[in-house]
Amino acid sequence: MFWNQLLWVIFPYVMLTLFIVGHIYRYNYDQFGWTAQSSEFMEKKSLKWGSILFHVGILMVLGGHLVGLLVPKALTEAIGMTEEMYHAGAIFGGGFAGIITLAGISILLFRRVSVKRVRVTGSYTDMLIAFLLFLEILMGLYNTLGYNLFVGEVDYRTTLAPWLRGILLLNPNPALMEEVPLFFKLHTLFAFAIFGLWPFTRLVHVWSIPLEYLKRSYIIYRSRNAKRAVQIRQANSKSTHPSQL
Ligand code: HEM
Repeated sequence: MFWNQLLWVIFPYVMLTLFIVGHIYRYNYDQFGWTAQSSEFMEKKSLKWGSILFHVGILMVLGGHLVGLLVPKALTEAIGMTEEMYHAGAIFGGGFAGIITLAGISILLFRRVSVKRVRVTGSYTDMLIAFLLFLEILMGLYNTLGYNLFVGEVDYRTTLAPWLRGILLLNPNPALMEEVPLFFKLHTLFAFAIFGLWPFTRLVHVWSIPLEYLKRSYIIYRSRNAKRAVQIRQANSKSTHPSQL
């Protein structure tokens, strides 16, 4: 009873409070640090692959979680989606998304540990969050593929999902978590730990999609060469873009 309250009511709300208050604090006191702290100039090759795989994968995973956890089972059934259809979608769609995401985070974590320049210039929280994401995604994939293929179907849409909706609607029912298998529980607890740490890590960049890039003016790089600098200035005064020189 006590553990149920602690794990499935108190802990999630403490982490969600940290998530909200932490973002407000960081936004007010650390605007200059509000960045993904790109390490691209230290190592490009594996970052490119790791980053693309991770970001494409995680967007698909997010979509799957929204449907699987926030849309009630009764609603998906009402629009004609049977249990079999849902599970096939979760295994093939979720499995594919999970594999891509796991490949991406594995490359990113390996790079962070093995490339010295990235390792020594990164912070402890960078390493911690990469490691937590790796474990979280590994467990998620195990829940999607491991359980369904080797242990047996888990109908989390009658337990875990309504519990989560209860948390979000401020009406938690921890009893719903009693029958949930261990790795689904751990996956959920790790997720809330990540939410609590989120505002204190580079993950804040998620809220700063650089849409400005699409409409900002050119950044003009001027040549050090004096003669060339004069040419560029002259071209500018005739309103020719420097890239055309
Ligand atoms: C409260 C938060 C979360 C809950 C309740 C939750 C729950 C679940 C459940 C039930 C599954 C199995 C889906 C299925 O087999 O149909 C799953 C899979 C998965 N989860 Fe989560 N999850 C949460 C947060 C996260 C987070 C934060 C990440 C990553 C950063 C993540 C990554 C994954 C991945 C990669 C899979 C396997 C692929 C997929 O089915 O989408 N989850 N999760």
